[in-house]
Amino acid sequence: MEPVSRRKMLKAGGALGALGALSVAAPAQARSAWTWSPKGSVAGAGAGVDPRWVWDEEADPLVASLLDRGDAPLVNQLLRTWTKNGQPLPSGLPADVRQFIERARVLPSWVDQGKLATAVRFNEKRGLYLGVLYGLASGMMSTVIPKEARAVYYSKGGADMKDRISKTAKLGYDIGTANAYQPDGSMIVTAVKTRLAHAGVRHLLPQSPEWADVAPEDIPISQRDLMVTWHSLPTTVMRKLTDWRVPIPAAESTAFLHLWQVAAHMLGIRDEYIPATWSEANSQASEVLDPILAPTREGNALADILLGLGREIDAGLLSKPILGSFTRFMLGNQIANWLEIPRDLLWDTLLRTSWGPFIAVREALLPFPLAPECYWLFDEFLRKLALLFLSEGQSINIEIPLGNREF
Ligand code: HEM
Repeated sequence: MEPVSRRKMLKAGGALGALGALSVAAPAQARSAWTWSPKGSVAGAGAGVDPRWVWDEEADPLVASLLDRGDAPLVNQLLRTWTKNGQPLPSGLPADVRQFIERARVLPSWVDQGKLATAVRFNEKRGLYLGVLYGLASGMMSTVIPKEARAVYYSKGGADMKDRISKTAKLGYDIGTANAYQPDGSMIVTAVKTRLAHAGVRHLLPQSPEWADVAPEDIPISQRDLMVTWHSLPTTVMRKLTDWRVPIPAAESTAFLHLWQVAAHMLGIRDEYIPATWSEANSQASEVLDPILAPTREGNALADILLGLGREIDAGLLSKPILGSFTRFMLGNQIANWLEIPRDLLWDTLLRTSWGPFIAVREALLPFPLAPECYWLFDEFLRKLALLFLSEGQSINIEIPLGNREF
């Protein structure tokens, strides 16, 4: 039974009118039971506690203490030089931070180097689709995940979405590199820094009156929320690739999952919540992701900014209507309508009628020389999109936030 806080009771009475029917429906659905069994996890067993009530028992008290005692800026500054997985930590770090990171940077015992190697092959072959899917399917989906949209909107990062995209793209970039989890790669560093950033958000957001007014939860970014967002990434990407009939050998599909299982562990998610197989992932996603998608005022504001960024970054080639059409095509009419994305006759039709044959052409199922002009157009846009979402994030620092967004 969910504990009901005094704040929640007050809000239930006062804020109903202001929230609007749809955003009220979302938190109600989000309180669905947790029935997913830990037997389907990489741990193979567990207590089965609803991860809505689990956060990060190691990172949270540490980062709260750093923020309270004023050490967070120093830690951020020192950690800027820590960029490679195998690199020793910089000197001068407070002892508790050093101890935490030394523990947190260790890969799980179940990591499978063979699968990671296969994942490299998959990422190389599918990098173009992955870039676009992370950016448009996962990225835009985050705006209809109510708790995430609100957390992002009211946190410091919500004020500068371009910077935030670059930081988030860093993770998408690092996980796709050949040496992601090797000593000369960066994914372990990125994941551990993200874990610290999330712990910072857990400490700070509850102090934001704007967030506290609208959020149904008292502490953001539970392990359940982390899994929801996780499913908006690999699970959604794999669902789309399957929809589009992109041929993927079973070993590559398993390897891609493994890449993200390791990421989940390094982000501080307990092994008992990380799905062991795609079938377990899909069953967990249908329990925690699919039913909670809903529009919010904050998510719509973020979506509007995201769709406008293409033009700013790419001098007009990726105009808002085109990105909007891609979003409609990737996420469907319901989500596009929630986000109030206008219909675009030309691009909506082009994507609907030509995407299937385009994929077939790219996958060499049809002879390339016969490909109509518009396929080259798609190819060019895909490249631009992938560049937009992935290449920005290479010299970016992920840091513990020091405050909330100011209004
Ligand atoms: C920060 C990734 C889940 C909210 C970040 C950052 C990354 C990231 C790379 C650092 C970039 C930045 O500072 O802007 C992920 C991944 C997730 C996940 C891979 C799941 C697998 C979530 C969830 C929420 C959330 C579930 C909220 C419900 C935030 C917020 C920030 C952040 C508010 C800080 C923004 C700021 O003020 O700087 N996340 N995240 N994240 N994340 Fe997540």
